Amino acid sequence: MKNKIITLLNEKIPFLSQEDISSMIEIPPKPEMGDFAFPCFRLAKELHKAPPMIAADIANEIGELDFIDHIDVKGAYLNFYLRKDAFVKSMVEASAAENFGSSEEGTGKTICIDYSSPNVAKNFHVGHLRTTIIGNSLYKIYSKLGYKVERINHLGDWGTQFGKLIVAYKNWGDEATVKEKGVEELMRLYVAFHKAADENPELNDEARAWFVKMEQGDEEALAIWKWFVDISLTEYKRTYQLLGLDFDHFTGESFYRNMTGDIVQKLTDANLLTESEGAKIVDLEAYNMAPCLILKNDGSSIYATRDLAAIFYRKNTYNFVKALYVTGQEQKLHFAQVFKVVELLGNEWAKDQLVHIPYGLVSLDGAKLSTRDGNVIYAEDILLEAISKIKETINEKNPDLEDKDEVARIVGVGAVIFNDLYNQRIKDVSFRWEKLLNFDGETGPYVQYTYARCSSILRKAYESSDSSAFSAIDLANIDYSVLTDEASVDLLKEIIRFPEVVKDASEKYEPSIVARFAVDVAQAFNKFYTVNRINIDDEAVKNARLALVKITRKTLRDALDLLGIGVVEQM
Ligand code: ARG
Repeated sequence: MKNKIITLLNEKIPFLSQEDISSMIEIPPKPEMGDFAFPCFRLAKELHKAPPMIAADIANEIGELDFIDHIDVKGAYLNFYLRKDAFVKSMVEASAAENFGSSEEGTGKTICIDYSSPNVAKNFHVGHLRTTIIGNSLYKIYSKLGYKVERINHLGDWGTQFGKLIVAYKNWGDEATVKEKGVEELMRLYVAFHKAADENPELNDEARAWFVKMEQGDEEALAIWKWFVDISLTEYKRTYQLLGLDFDHFTGESFYRNMTGDIVQKLTDANLLTESEGAKIVDLEAYNMAPCLILKNDGSSIYATRDLAAIFYRKNTYNFVKALYVTGQEQKLHFAQVFKVVELLGNEWAKDQLVHIPYGLVSLDGAKLSTRDGNVIYAEDILLEAISKIKETINEKNPDLEDKDEVARIVGVGAVIFNDLYNQRIKDVSFRWEKLLNFDGETGPYVQYTYARCSSILRKAYESSDSSAFSAIDLANIDYSVLTDEASVDLLKEIIRFPEVVKDASEKYEPSIVARFAVDVAQAFNKFYTVNRINIDDEAVKNARLALVKITRKTLRDALDLLGIGVVEQM
């Protein structure tokens, strides 16, 4: 409809481009003011006339048209009132398409997303929950736009800390306890090392020596290290499974350990390396940044060196058009430095292809959480607690529900994810169980409940619980004049935004735009449902309204999927 109006206006004002006209068209804040508005201020100069006169002239010239009910001239504005049934028809047709919301902008292009990336032998805590959830949603959003996405888990699995762990394990650990307690025991050993090293600093030299052995490929050192990595990964994968997500590559820092020499060579050849107190750095003073450390004074590589290696590896292997890094804001400087070094090596693409995507902190003050030991909070425990709380609600309100456990998982986990993604990612996230598990309000359960309500309406109407029996949308038999009431039009106007919402979310790296859209659609649907009865005798009305229920159901499902949240047919 907008395109039709653009074409129409373009005939009358040929000196403006279609894009110009498109960007000038506004959606009036209230439906009483029309469906689209076009301001004529910018035309005054070219046409040597006052804007209100221009508006009146254009309206006259347009005359009568089959898809426009009437045009109102208000000052310098042309307000278009569309023929409701034609408008409704175009919205229903567009949104009923199976691929509604997708596009082909990304066809043939690859995006790397580096996210989650917990540190081996440390617990998977709430901060890593955020990068995991945000990264997964970005993966879904970019896939929807046709991109090939490489999901990369850059595990923190290399560095001197593993030398310390080996020393601690040899002194105070034993195989059985590590096997039994996993990461919890590895964390205990790590703490024990630091305590002991305070008294006995030679332990630090021992630890460094073990890490040097690891870097040199010593079998014993690598076997212990590998064991710690496997133990940690098994635990992280439990959390990923609860969340229902996966990665294409578990290539941690260790994966790049033999590629750092190349980086040092590149930097040396480009004359970028300078010595500073025995270490090798890239001076970034000209860019108002602290120097980027490349090699420590003992010659070993660091986090940044391995990130540099990873960037070149990924560019060569995947030929990405963009590489995104989802981490907390405290790594802002790190990525700015690393990206700058890549650029200084003669790679202009670094400027717009390498993007750091920071997010805010998690505050738990509102939530009482049972912790495993004192104050370490595991993401897994939060998810399990959400699931068990939802299970309680189900047992109370709908004890006979089928697949209770799976429903509780999808709703509980969905609630945590939704709570994370509903606000702009840079804002802090707070955990308040009463709020995030509420079935009313701006929550995951509310949107999922609205989806289940759509399913329930359809089950009744079609007297079938087989959703494939009622998913197909038959456009041939819809009387669109039945859907011209305010609540139906408002619902369609929300739904029709979906493609723009997905695009906007991708450009801003902001899943919250999709989360808010899902709530808007759910609210508009619930209004529609309060004023419009659906299971009625009048076949034409019933049929048209059922089509709208199907479109809503499909759109809610797809929007939730972009957030990494599933749906349930009954709850
Ligand atoms: N392991 C790091 C951490 O937990 C995050 C790694 C992010 N990715 C990267 N390529 N540096 O803080």
